[in-house]
Amino acid sequence: SFGRRAWLQKYRGYTLASIFHSQWRDIHSFDVREDDVWVVTFPKSGTTWVQEIIYLLMNDLDTEKASKTNIDDRFPYFEFPYLGLKAIEETPSPRLIKSHLPFSLLPNQMKYKKPKIIYIIRNPKDVVVSYYFFTLKFLKLVPFNGSFEDYCRLFTEDKVSYGPWWKHVSEGWKMRNEPNVLFLSYEDLQMNADKVIKEIATFLGKPVTDEQVDRIKKHCSFESMQQNKSVNYDWLKDGGLANKGVPFMRRGKVGDWKNHLSADIVKKMDEMIATKLPPDMIEHITDT
Ligand code: PPS
Repeated sequence: SFGRRAWLQKYRGYTLASIFHSQWRDIHSFDVREDDVWVVTFPKSGTTWVQEIIYLLMNDLDTEKASKTNIDDRFPYFEFPYLGLKAIEETPSPRLIKSHLPFSLLPNQMKYKKPKIIYIIRNPKDVVVSYYFFTLKFLKLVPFNGSFEDYCRLFTEDKVSYGPWWKHVSEGWKMRNEPNVLFLSYEDLQMNADKVIKEIATFLGKPVTDEQVDRIKKHCSFESMQQNKSVNYDWLKDGGLANKGVPFMRRGKVGDWKNHLSADIVKKMDEMIATKLPPDMIEHITDT
């Protein structure tokens, strides 16, 4: 199980890293701007992929500029202590902001400033596999000494960081028809890249030609992002925060869970999907 010293704490129904807990006042009262662009996700749902697509669309497809600076600096992680909030306050508009917080924990001003928000979902079976490799193989610092199976069980028991997954995505689902929200899935982006990239472009008010879509697809392919040092999080290795030889861009596939999950975990996941999600959302979970 997770180490004795609680590195996770509950806040308003969510399990969150203890290092976030001194900032709730600043988070809730944060000054949102109407021209902000936010990517909001449960972790491991395609955040970095969509961040890079948005960055290109907002910057005239300047791939060279994109490659010069880490995505964390171009598109900062809102709730990450010291790097997030404070840096974002000083960023000129239009700001690009990433957050893994559910809608109910985002700044109060989101409700009336109505910035553009892109919310992405991914099949939870693939999310848990990706999350395990990220948290326990890629990152160095997370105090957990259980097995893969244990980790999956914790996920289904709502005890991993940012969980419950179903609560997070249910909140996203409820917002899907708001004019300032674009609701996407990892699987749809994977299978219908042209269509989804155009949807993102239109939503951002940056329409693109077919040729431009092709350039975005090439720059943002899994293979190219895996090699791209401004998005592949290799910099965390230099900083001693991640293990060398373990990729952040791990597999990039739909349905990789079939190679990893036990029958028991699949059953628990299916139960969670069937009983915890809004009924009309269930068919939107791509389960292949
Ligand atoms: S994080 O840490 O929450 O921001 O992670 P996130 O970026 O949301 O999710 C990481 C997973 O997304 C995969 N990924 C991609 N798949 C396909 N194409 C592209 N371009 C791409 N970029 C990132 C990444 O490999 C992680 O999934 P897994 O299944 O672990 O490979």
